[in-house]
Amino acid sequence: MTSSDLWDEDTAARYDDVSAEMFAPDVLDPAVDFLARLAGDGPALEFAIGTGRVAVPLTARGVRVSGIELSQPMVDRLRRKVSADEVPVAVGDMASTTVPGAFSLVYVVWNSIGNLRTQDEQVRCFQNAARHLAPGGRFVIELWVPGIRRFPPGQAGVPFAVTDQHVGFDTFDMVTQQGTSHHYRRLGDGSARYGFSNFRYIWPAECDLMARLAGLEFEQRVADWHGAAFTSDSESHVSVWRKPMEATDS
Ligand SMILES: C[S@@+](CC[C@H](N)C(=O)[O-])C[C@H]1O[C@@H](n2cnc3c(N)ncnc32)[C@H](O)[C@@H]1O
Repeated sequence: MTSSDLWDEDTAARYDDVSAEMFAPDVLDPAVDFLARLAGDGPALEFAIGTGRVAVPLTARGVRVSGIELSQPMVDRLRRKVSADEVPVAVGDMASTTVPGAFSLVYVVWNSIGNLRTQDEQVRCFQNAARHLAPGGRFVIELWVPGIRRFPPGQAGVPFAVTDQHVGFDTFDMVTQQGTSHHYRRLGDGSARYGFSNFRYIWPAECDLMARLAGLEFEQRVADWHGAAFTSDSESHVSVWRKPMEATDS
């Protein structure tokens, strides 16, 4: 059982097109560089691998990448790019699904850990990462910092995209740490299509505590894949925790 929304066929079919800016080399290359450096000579495991936006170029760099992904339609799209021999994927929940192997790197990017909408599942996701790591291996997450400081009193939503093609904004429930991203995308005939996704937001400090509960040690937090300093103004972070050389799984 998972609290995550299931990404359906329609969403999977449109994913690469509507995410085109996240496939752009200036966005993707620094992420692939960062992850390839941490993987070193070892294999990597991507939680919520999706259509392989990161896994495919990382594989092309010589890293052996496996994946765990909840949505079969997303995996079907990945399969149009790489075979199951090249990038094996288990269809299941990243909080609980296991795959064979001991990895030098486990990673979950583009805010995807937020798809797990309870604290318990997010803790179990960190534990599942630790379970798959070889001693000394790293767990990396790329996650936004909740945009809550942009809320003046009485405002209900925070815009993150305002163009003539796409209007997107987030709404938050501060008590339950639940949020929803709302998207209005313009269609060819001038009408708009509405879509939404639900998430649980997490602060960096809560991530660090989840990592400790999973027996991982904090190693690094930067603001982006280029390694910019993480400051109180940063809107996202790339965080790295390490499994100790002498570790006992929690
Ligand atoms: C924003 S997409 C990211 C996909 C890919 N990592 C990328 O960067 O393009 C989020 C992905 O998380 C997957 N997902 C959501 N909940 C999940 C869960 N509980 N376990 C595994 N995957 C999940 C979705 O199906 C979707 O493919």
